Amino acid sequence: MDVNEVLQFVDRVVFEQTGKHLDDVQRAIVEGTWQRQTYDNIAHECHVNKNYASDVGAELWQLLSQALGEDIKKTNFRSTLERVYIKSSQVIGLGNHHNFHFCTQTFNQHNTNNRETNIKSQSPYYDLTLTPKIINFYNRKSELKTLLSLILDNNIRLISVLGLSGIGKTTLVKRWVDLNLDEFEVIIWKSLKYPKLLELLIDDLLNTCKQELKVTRDDNLKQLFDVFTDKKCLIILDDVHHIFTRGEFSGQYQSVYQDYQNFFKLITETEHQSHLILISQEQCAEMECLDEELYPIKALKLSGLENGEILSGMGLKTDQDSGLKLIEKYQGNPMYLKDVAVLIKDVFDGNVAEFLAEDSLVITKEMRSHFNQLFNRLSPVEQKIVVELSKFDQPVSREELRQHLDLSSIDLINGLQSLQQRYLVSKIKTDPILFNLSLLFQEYLRTIEKNSINP
Ligand SMILES: Nc1ncnc2c1ncn2[C@@H]1O[C@H](COP(=O)(O)OP(=O)(O)O)[C@@H](O)[C@H]1O
Ligand SMILES: [Mg+2]
Repeated sequence: MDVNEVLQFVDRVVFEQTGKHLDDVQRAIVEGTWQRQTYDNIAHECHVNKNYASDVGAELWQLLSQALGEDIKKTNFRSTLERVYIKSSQVIGLGNHHNFHFCTQTFNQHNTNNRETNIKSQSPYYDLTLTPKIINFYNRKSELKTLLSLILDNNIRLISVLGLSGIGKTTLVKRWVDLNLDEFEVIIWKSLKYPKLLELLIDDLLNTCKQELKVTRDDNLKQLFDVFTDKKCLIILDDVHHIFTRGEFSGQYQSVYQDYQNFFKLITETEHQSHLILISQEQCAEMECLDEELYPIKALKLSGLENGEILSGMGLKTDQDSGLKLIEKYQGNPMYLKDVAVLIKDVFDGNVAEFLAEDSLVITKEMRSHFNQLFNRLSPVEQKIVVELSKFDQPVSREELRQHLDLSSIDLINGLQSLQQRYLVSKIKTDPILFNLSLLFQEYLRTIEKNSINP
């Protein structure tokens, strides 16, 4: 049993008891106690005082004791959990950790709060190879809750997780999957970074589910939907934007991957008990739907992390105020924050206040290379719009843009929609409506302009 399994197990127990997942302090206590740390160390690491940490710990031990029918304290937490875990595996004949939910039910027959779950008669099929192992995870409580509610409570069949690159889409979904493994009989995660034809993807999915392949493509597709009907499956397709065309408006399928459009439609339009999560930095028409009653589709659009917790693990010298300023400057994007943290360590010896005193928005070379890729994915119309927007210090109205750009009304409208579907431009609902370019992308474009280098 490793620390991640322990965290999942305890989270599951707590969720069953209280309807809430572990918060960050509780997670730190479980993790720290497992690693035999003192409350002093744990409190220091999660920036709370020692008394508070030990109070939260005491409540947690009490809750676990009740749920598992064991007298659990900080001193015997590790040994008791190991024993309970082994015992529960033997009771239900499982050699793996996937049915934690079942385990806790076995130990708490009188628990009335349990979510109605799907207890599996056969061993589940999981393919989570090449997914990131989540070690540090901050914030995103409401997003985890939203996913839970969409997928498990409301049974939405097609869910998209959308947002700029680096904002934390993959991390969020993997964390959610880790916490909810036992809700599904099949979980398969595939990245489309190097996309394959739909028929090959379907073959892969069937293979993982140990189904024999049929001769024709249509039969395989039917076979897959039979599996979706028989079993509760969760399929995750990451980096979906790679099946869209570069240099065109957002979400236009490359002709070789056009079949995916029908596949996504089939997922929403047919009856079955499974779910598909699409992770993408570009939105397409199939990811959102106006008639939600008819087609169960939902999109979760991620914005930045809102507090400085993520900085705590980066080894920076910072107080709350400068931490928040740094987060704001880099729009809470964890990938940019990680990049800039390395720079602050290298050049400013980790001193955030000194870095902020520079008073310029520093674009690291990693960010720049990311923005280059983003810029190159844009259609020529979008490129013109962002270059023009980057010249303004304030949000700009459509009319103002029209005056400065040699574009037809239709091109301008479509371009503004597409840029919003890539999360580079946001709309401010004033009268007139104003459009705002992501500050970091703006800074990148300005630097390019200044250096007169073609992006
Ligand atoms: N909630 C989070 N807590 C801690 N680190 C995070 C969080 N979200 C993302 N990260 C980190 O930020 C980086 C980018 O996240 P990722 O999920 O790959 O972004 P995306 O899939 O949107 O491009 C990764 O290094 C990841 O570990
Ligand atoms: Mg990703």
